Amino acid sequence: MSERLVSARDLAKDYQLDGFAIHALRSVTLEVHAGEFISIMGASGCGKSTLLHILGAVDVPSAGELTLFGRNAAELTDAERTALRLHHLGFVFQRFFLLPMLTAAENVMLPLMEAGLARRQREERVHEVMEYVGLAQRMRHKPGQLSGGEQQRVAIARALVNRPQLLLADEPTGELDEATGEQIAELLQRLHADGTAIVLVTHNPELAARATRQLRMRDGQIEPPMEGAP
Ligand SMILES: Nc1ncnc2c1ncn2[C@@H]1O[C@H](COP(=O)(O)OP(=O)(O)OP(=O)(O)O)[C@@H](O)[C@H]1O
Ligand SMILES: [Mg+2]
Repeated sequence: MSERLVSARDLAKDYQLDGFAIHALRSVTLEVHAGEFISIMGASGCGKSTLLHILGAVDVPSAGELTLFGRNAAELTDAERTALRLHHLGFVFQRFFLLPMLTAAENVMLPLMEAGLARRQREERVHEVMEYVGLAQRMRHKPGQLSGGEQQRVAIARALVNRPQLLLADEPTGELDEATGEQIAELLQRLHADGTAIVLVTHNPELAARATRQLRMRDGQIEPPMEGAP
């Protein structure tokens, strides 16, 4: 049995807006094991980003049980949640969130500043990961001087620079053309082959099909697998 990285049971997430409750997640149960590659598809608004944020300790559930890397998420202090994100998780957000004033290399280095590595080590790591995503020649470019696909790869590099066990990627090919999307897809497959667990949210069925486990969400829930599906 492979190591269980994340275990979620009956997760719910409600938002209150103008006196109405929005049930973004209803009773989601999911386990993510080391090295797994999971894809999640589903209509806009069905709760995919909400789920990913909760699995990534970026947001907290309204109800349910969540174990992240052996810790009960409900018992974590803010500092512990930050440390967890820093040491175990990489997150690629639906929007890149690159800082426009910083170069690509500086953007990628940001998580390392918090992790307290020495300057020399930080530079080596950044170079290594920029090479991994094929951008060693774009280290000094600012986000505005990069193509959409390159910016997306910088965002992935930033998520990988701490060598996370689990990468959570929210539509990493969303606004890219087919060829660029294919580069990102290959990057994710290489990561999976190298042993990193991935949870990928995507609207692209071909990309989703590359995962070892394909999930669909609908109206805040994970749909039961279809008859005959693996
Ligand atoms: N901060 C918030 N306050 C109120 N409602 C929210 C908030 N964030 C999300 N929602 C609602 O929760 C539901 C799920 O949103 P979520 O972002 O998880 O959808 P999604 O599946 O990622 O959609 P998309 O494919 O468009 O990115 C939506 O109906 C959305 O409007
Ligand atoms: Mg989303």
